[in-house]
Amino acid sequence: MINMLDGKTILVTGASSGIGRAVAKFFSIQGCCVVIAGQSESRLNETLSLLSGNGHFSVTGDLSDVEQLKAMMDSVFNKVGALDGIIHCAGIQKTLPLQALKESDFDDIFSVNVKSAQFLAKNFRRKGRYNKDGASLVFISSVAATCGEPAISTYSASKAALIGLTKSLASELSRNKIRVNCIAPGHVETEMAIEFSKQLTNEQLAYIKAKHPLGLGKPEDVAHAAAFLASDLSRWVTGTTLCVDGGYSAQ
Ligand SMILES: NC(=O)c1ccc[n+]([C@@H]2O[C@H](COP(=O)([O-])OP(=O)(O)OC[C@H]3O[C@@H](n4cnc5c(N)ncnc54)[C@H](OP(=O)(O)O)[C@@H]3O)[C@@H](O)[C@H]2O)c1
Repeated sequence: MINMLDGKTILVTGASSGIGRAVAKFFSIQGCCVVIAGQSESRLNETLSLLSGNGHFSVTGDLSDVEQLKAMMDSVFNKVGALDGIIHCAGIQKTLPLQALKESDFDDIFSVNVKSAQFLAKNFRRKGRYNKDGASLVFISSVAATCGEPAISTYSASKAALIGLTKSLASELSRNKIRVNCIAPGHVETEMAIEFSKQLTNEQLAYIKAKHPLGLGKPEDVAHAAAFLASDLSRWVTGTTLCVDGGYSAQ
């Protein structure tokens, strides 16, 4: 197979675990220089140790804080110059029935999942920060954006917001040759999903499995889709949401 991402430099957020870590690993195998972002320095170092090739590095900070996000983007720019893309995997999920939901939960979920995406786009779009011959921005939404499940209404709303953000930003940034797309995964076996599963009964777990005709996903399944959207193979694709969900949303 050709190296889809040879010579590209791509920022992967949420790379200290789960989907982001798998994206960073696969992108490094595809010849990409990967800049990884997260909050836990030790887990980012673990990710770095798993990457192929040289020149990768990490930046740490809280992406829900616009000042910290800006500082992280500034330090990336100072080190590598223009990026070819960003895969924004950082996100949080909280299982909260309405009676347990607090205002602070809503604010946390929207700050990490939506505000970070909006301000990453704003910082990426600045002159000199993106490859002006073509760049790619990918958000990670969820099947929860379009298929309802109980006790995750705020998470679902935040993931639906990413689909709206994707479409409007795709229109706005096409003149800058920045493509903006979204991936909507089904249940992928990561730390986040394992935490979520702990709160479920065996019956609920069986129900989730049954809703994925091709079985549950692996982080690599999302990484492969992200590689397509980051690569020049998708040069005519923008504003879309690619469902990577084992058939969950096909029913
Ligand atoms: N797993 C699934 O089944 C599934 C399904 C659909 C969509 N998704 C979405 O896919 C994305 C990745 O999920 P995952 O399962 O890989 O989750 P995960 O293993 O919990 O990883 C989440 C990542 O986000 C980072 N992060 C969280 N808050 C942050 C903040 N304020 N600033 C910077 N980084 C932050 C974490 O870094 P630190 O730990 O260092 O803070 C971690 O690297 C999320 O957006 C999630 O909503 C997941």
